[in-house]
Amino acid sequence: MGKFLVEGRRTLCGRVSINGAKNSALKLMVAALLGQGSFKLKNVPSITDVETMAGVLRALGVHVHFASGHLQLDVSSVQGQTPEALVKSMRASVQVMGPLLARLGRVEVARPGGCNIGSRPLDIHLAGFEQMGATIEVRGDTFVARAPRLHGADITFRYPSVGATENIMMAATMAKGETIIRNAAREPEIIDIQDFLNGMGAKIKGAGTPVITIQGVTELGATDFSVVPDRIEAGTYLLAFLITGGSGTVEGVVPEHLTPLLDLLESMGAGVEIGEREVSVVSPAHLEPFKVATGPYPGFPTDMQPQVVALATQARGRSVLTEAVFDRRFGYTLELSKLGARIRPNTSAVIVEGATPLYGANLVAGDLRGGAALMLGALAAEGQSTICGVEHIDRGYEAMEKRLEDLGAKVSRVVD
Ligand code: UD1
Repeated sequence: MGKFLVEGRRTLCGRVSINGAKNSALKLMVAALLGQGSFKLKNVPSITDVETMAGVLRALGVHVHFASGHLQLDVSSVQGQTPEALVKSMRASVQVMGPLLARLGRVEVARPGGCNIGSRPLDIHLAGFEQMGATIEVRGDTFVARAPRLHGADITFRYPSVGATENIMMAATMAKGETIIRNAAREPEIIDIQDFLNGMGAKIKGAGTPVITIQGVTELGATDFSVVPDRIEAGTYLLAFLITGGSGTVEGVVPEHLTPLLDLLESMGAGVEIGEREVSVVSPAHLEPFKVATGPYPGFPTDMQPQVVALATQARGRSVLTEAVFDRRFGYTLELSKLGARIRPNTSAVIVEGATPLYGANLVAGDLRGGAALMLGALAAEGQSTICGVEHIDRGYEAMEKRLEDLGAKVSRVVD
């Protein structure tokens, strides 16, 4: 497992190249379960969630080979059950439901685990499958879904859930007839999965808008694909520059995917320069406080919420961040306050009084993005911090300590 040792108050500068998005790569991996043949995915991050998903795919009979950002998947027959231990360690495994239901007519998955950030029900996914003709049985901690052949349906989501949009899109690719998803999620990762599935022979249009239409086909093949850059990894490194008073560039990004964050950083006084495939930030003399609420894309991403709260500790005045996507995403604030941050969470918002000097402390990461926020706090703090629970950070950030060291930080990993 191990922990990170961080010597803070070093100014970070330089360039960092951004990997493919975790939240796309994982879904493309499961989407391959609908196809047949050999897939080559490029720009896949080397993170433990990808390894976990590779384990899920292997258990289902897929041949998986992963090296240096290239993932090869060979799919012939698909069979078996998803391994419970693997599914429980990662929420994204619930996405196997759509492809397996479409391909095998039956799927059994353990109620999934994932980040400790909220109740995260699956009702939108399950109601969508039912509208497409599936029956769902809940057996203790397991969902059993059955459908000899799914049929198209006109489905209106009560909320634009990312996972449900992807799951229903995948299930609908091989359903009989047309499926329409209304109030669909519009995240860049949804466009990625549409383009990937269409490369396999699916007929999907509308991703990136609230209405997605899928014409069912009888079979899908294989395709090669490059994963969209990770806007959350990029955002986290931009904040690492700013929280240490530094400046630097994230390379290999799609700048427009970062717009809500960049708008916020500009409002805080940061210099922001947007290139074709890169974004640079420069620290101002003083960071200004902000008020922002998270929301579905193109709103402010909830996956950047803990990190910007860490940055708010260094802004002059009171910042207010309202969390409107998840119902319990402030666990990390207690840990940040161990560094000296003045943070008050209530049920749906966090109030941060800045700027406060931070001092090194022993911290415990409890979830992925909360862990990233602790790293940012530790980078800004005087003296040494330790961060336990690095397995949460490793789920979504490739070699974070090495990449930060390359930018001038002093971070090392101690393996227990
Ligand atoms: C995905 C991302 C996650 C990100 C989130 C929102 C992956 C692996 N994870 O998670 O990093 O924070 O999008 O951008 O891609 N909800 C229901 N019922 C459902 C489904 C969702 O009530 O059936 C609620 C959830 O509890 C949550 C909200 O909808 O409050 C958003 O969830 P959703 O968009 O589904 O997020 P995920 O796909 O789980």
